[in-house]
Amino acid sequence: MKKIILLSGCLIILLSGCYNKKSAPASDYIEEPHSFSKPNEAAITHLDLDINVDFDNEIIHGKASYLIKNNKASQIILDSKFLTIEKVQADGKDTAFSLGDFDEQLGSPLKIDINNDTKQITVFYKTTHKTEALQWLKPQQTTDKKHPFLFTQGQAILTRTWIPIQDSPQIRITYNAKVKVPSQLMAVMSAENPKTKTPDGQYTFKMAQPISPYLIALAVGDIEYKAISNRTGIYAEKSMVEKAHDEFSDMENMVASAEALYGTYAWEQFDVIVLPPSFPFGGMENPRLTFATPTVIAGDKSLTSLIAHELAHSWSGNLVTNATWDDFWLNEGFTVYFEMRIMEALYGKDRANMLARIGRQDLEEEIESFKETPDDTKLKLNLKGRNPDDGMNSIAYDKGYLFLRTLEETAGREKFDVFLKSYFQKHAFSTIHTEKFVAFLNENLLEKHDITFNTNEWIYNAGIPDNQAIISSDKFETVEKTIQQFVKTNTVDKTLTKDWTTQEWVHFVRNFPNDIKTEHMAMFDEAFNLTNSNNSYIAMVWYEQAINHDYHGNDVDAKIEDFLIKVGRRWYVSTIYKAFKRNDKTDVALAIYNKARSNYHAVTTNTVDGILGYKQE
Ligand code: BES
Ligand code: ZN
Repeated sequence: MKKIILLSGCLIILLSGCYNKKSAPASDYIEEPHSFSKPNEAAITHLDLDINVDFDNEIIHGKASYLIKNNKASQIILDSKFLTIEKVQADGKDTAFSLGDFDEQLGSPLKIDINNDTKQITVFYKTTHKTEALQWLKPQQTTDKKHPFLFTQGQAILTRTWIPIQDSPQIRITYNAKVKVPSQLMAVMSAENPKTKTPDGQYTFKMAQPISPYLIALAVGDIEYKAISNRTGIYAEKSMVEKAHDEFSDMENMVASAEALYGTYAWEQFDVIVLPPSFPFGGMENPRLTFATPTVIAGDKSLTSLIAHELAHSWSGNLVTNATWDDFWLNEGFTVYFEMRIMEALYGKDRANMLARIGRQDLEEEIESFKETPDDTKLKLNLKGRNPDDGMNSIAYDKGYLFLRTLEETAGREKFDVFLKSYFQKHAFSTIHTEKFVAFLNENLLEKHDITFNTNEWIYNAGIPDNQAIISSDKFETVEKTIQQFVKTNTVDKTLTKDWTTQEWVHFVRNFPNDIKTEHMAMFDEAFNLTNSNNSYIAMVWYEQAINHDYHGNDVDAKIEDFLIKVGRRWYVSTIYKAFKRNDKTDVALAIYNKARSNYHAVTTNTVDGILGYKQE
């Protein structure tokens, strides 16, 4: 008997790639500016969630029970924002609690009296209409238009608006959940998921690996599942399932490529749910179940690097997590690097270099946009008193990527890969801050191989150091020459563009001469019908140029309006609203925004309200 137990223990270790799942011991947590919790005194280690999803009233009602690691504390503090707290118990008995002062960004600390040996607490609560994590969609806002839909977005500090919790990325918890939904709908979470609907709308979930609270996620809708392999598959509304399945059919190959690069996939299952178009992000790496926008379904697999990106987060982000939002580049920079490596392994260097070049241009533009506040171009940030969303820009992603690519080219790919693999292995299921990373880098790559590198300049200084890797793409050079030729000759030669990929088209549209004439915009639109592109990315960059260059042909104004009303992906819509503003057309933008705003998730309205100076009556 003992042997069998031992054997199965080994098997589990083998299956999970020998990652160590211990959560951080008490008093290991560093101070961070975006959580009221004091985990060194008392920290949550496991959540049992039992909730009812009430679509009629658009609230979630239920209880959250926690196991706690109690360092002889007399109080435990959870984060909460816009929640109604009804009752709190400690080890099964009612206990006193209070909500501290409300902060616009952080919400209120929920202070709960405990004894120095309390092991478990339970909070009875409900959400309110101010909740920022949840977006409740009417049937009309879904793809199939028959049933309502709900999804959550936890990152960065929104989980506290639907579950009272210690909402710091340093916290790691396992969770079980019981979720009751209307019987026509299915519920899925960042956990072990159902593949079919239950007759009574009652679902149970288990997440056995410890994750950070921003990764707890729930979606409820009239959805179906279709497997791609025995560990990958798609959830989507009925009319989307087939399309999404075709588009993402390389998902199993992506997981296999990722594993070949940096070690075993730690989460067993990798599924993607395609959400309605108001989902505010391209993708969100919720463990076991990435949430994705339908705007990446282009029909030709040309935007699937997004899936590679969210998959890469299964290592950088979900397995090795940024300790604070000031260290966000450790999540995103590593993920973009890993994404590029997956894309290169599957589709070759040309494709990877085009993607990297697009990111390089984004970075250039972002640095320009921060010219008044150069501190915002540092990798390590100081977001105390600010919304962590302020750090979600090209610096963390593309400067982070450029740093790692420069490091790779300096050390050589072979040594760099050994280093990166050991980084994931050594820090699996734990959190890391920038200084800890620098120490690990020095010890395991730089000193070990006698390499000199200006790490501190990259991380703590503004701008881009001189030793940056040069990212070049022959394909993009050809695109640039083609633009010049078309403009100079006032004609379009379609034989030159017939084999272009989405990335080449994006590069084409983004690199028109600054003083391009409206006639040339019209010439391109007539030849390539860019206004009616079915590819959301090409359409988005074209709309930006139409606004920049005062182009109004082909009914493009109506198309822009339709796009902004339908799509809630923050990056897309904020790019377009910013273009209106930059070109002194804020009135046009506001007229559209008044119609579109109610369709957007709170993270999108927060950003666009800021861009347009919108104030709610
Ligand atoms: N984790 C991010 C999304 C995020 C970041 C949400 C910060 C909230 C706060 C996700 O992995 C991401 O980076 N999404 C990108 C896609 C991408 C391919 C760069 C997006 O949504 O555009
Ligand atoms: Zn990401």
